[in-house]
Amino acid sequence: MDSDAVVPMLRYLSQQPLYLLIILAFGSYLVANRLRQYWRLRQFKGPFSTGVSWVWHSRAVISGSAHKWYGDVTEKYGSIARVAPNHLITSSPELWAHINAVRSPYKRAEWYYHCARFEPGKDNVFTECDNEKHEARRKKMVAGVSPNCPNLYLYVTQHQQYSGKENPSLESSIDTHVEELVHLIRSKYAAPTASTSATTPMDLATKMQYFTLDVISHVGLGNAFGDLKADEDINGYIASSEEGLMIGNTSWGLGISWIRDVPILGKAISPSEKDAKGFGKMMSTARKCISERMMKSTSERSDMLSSFIRHGLTGDDLFQETFEQILAGSDTTAASLRIIMLYIMSHPRVYAKLQAEVDGAVKAGIAPATPKIISDAEAQRLPYLGAVVREALRVHPPVVNLFSRVVPKGGDTVTVDGEEVFLPGGTMIGYSAWSMHRNNKGLYGEDAQIFRPERWLVDQNIPSERDRLAHMCKTNDMIFGYGRWVCLGKVVAMIEIHKAIFELFRNFDFALANPHEPWTIFNTLGLYAIGNMWVEVTERA
Ligand code: HEM
Repeated sequence: MDSDAVVPMLRYLSQQPLYLLIILAFGSYLVANRLRQYWRLRQFKGPFSTGVSWVWHSRAVISGSAHKWYGDVTEKYGSIARVAPNHLITSSPELWAHINAVRSPYKRAEWYYHCARFEPGKDNVFTECDNEKHEARRKKMVAGVSPNCPNLYLYVTQHQQYSGKENPSLESSIDTHVEELVHLIRSKYAAPTASTSATTPMDLATKMQYFTLDVISHVGLGNAFGDLKADEDINGYIASSEEGLMIGNTSWGLGISWIRDVPILGKAISPSEKDAKGFGKMMSTARKCISERMMKSTSERSDMLSSFIRHGLTGDDLFQETFEQILAGSDTTAASLRIIMLYIMSHPRVYAKLQAEVDGAVKAGIAPATPKIISDAEAQRLPYLGAVVREALRVHPPVVNLFSRVVPKGGDTVTVDGEEVFLPGGTMIGYSAWSMHRNNKGLYGEDAQIFRPERWLVDQNIPSERDRLAHMCKTNDMIFGYGRWVCLGKVVAMIEIHKAIFELFRNFDFALANPHEPWTIFNTLGLYAIGNMWVEVTERA
């Protein structure tokens, strides 16, 4: 622009009100910033408008099917696609492993602060975005939650044994609630063997949530909430946390989730421990349980809480971490159980084969006779059960979120699909679970989208097959995250799942009441709100 044009323009601007100039300057800054963001990631393709706006992403989140949107985008645009001006997504297991490696310089994005804290301004191991602080927290917890068994369920036919070193009561606590689940179904819902009279339909989705919430409150707080015994959502915890997740999801979709971290305002719109019911009540109950538990000895290896305390967690941090276990451990495991049950019920061949394995194990003395609950070590000796669990969680990963990370300053050069790619520093990158697991034809073959547990039962005497299985397992394990941020509750979840599925199919037969609409499902912040999963249950002889 020559000076003849600049001077009149400056004169014109100087005659405008100050507020207009401020708006103009701010608007120009925003536009320039967007263009800069567009330009720095221009080599990555994505749906229309993702280079300059978050609209596509907002629609994905608010639709409740973000998992499918994220899956489709990498199917269409390649292993790294663009989902927003400064946000990429990848379906490459190798890249995701690199990003999440134990010593990775990537860090968690601020999504965790804004959307995952349950109290504004307060962090726990899941929400901490500072790598050093996160590592320090994790070290204090790992022995209590994830007992000494990193490779558990790595191979469906070659499990290591669960040791339960720091938490010897874990398995018996889980058994108590498996027994309660079986008792509830038998006493209230199951029709007698071969009965043709009317049955009492049961919402399996709800019972699975009661089960996982009772287990995790028992294991984490020393006291189960008691939903299974009461056959109800005591104090409306579940309804309230579902509502909270729904509100959180909508705010995230609308781009206003940062409001919760605004001082005073954030606190005013968050649940309070003074609430008579719902999420706030759940927090106050948890705090009370922790105080009561602390009155007893914590010096021996007894449960999760005593392990946390012995490893240095105290005060409010102890509350934040313990309560977080409840949130992280109930919806996730309940969704897994619902998914596994749905896939078994809708695949008669798998159903029959699994039940034959269950019955065979009891007959051969591998599993104890009822009413004893199968032990974890015994469950690990059942290859088909292991394969069914892995396969169901592969075709429908139970937690699907971007889990955004930030590329370190200076950027990172990575190799994906044989090509070198530069990821500029400060870019956010997340993961496409649906594409990495369910649609991964390269790894699982042309029928990747089909539920076929047998794909895990390969002949491990053939070295190439053994290697292929190891690769499949490493990829599949990423449904629990990876490396620096891998799930702390994987062992607890796997023990729960294997025991529950075994005992449900040992004792009952299940049929979907509404096969045309087996459930309602909505993805909220990565967790699935699943409901209306009506089934008819019959006692087995
Ligand atoms: C099948 C059930 C479960 C699934 C699929 C699952 C999945 C995950 C995933 C994907 C992550 C990583 C998130 C990220 O990368 O940022 C994670 C983290 C975590 N999970 Fe789980 N989870 C399950 C059960 C549990 C249970 C039962 C507990 C508690 C006993 C638990 C506690 C945690 C914690 C504390 C973290 C944070 C770890 C860290 O940041 O260092 N999870 N989980």
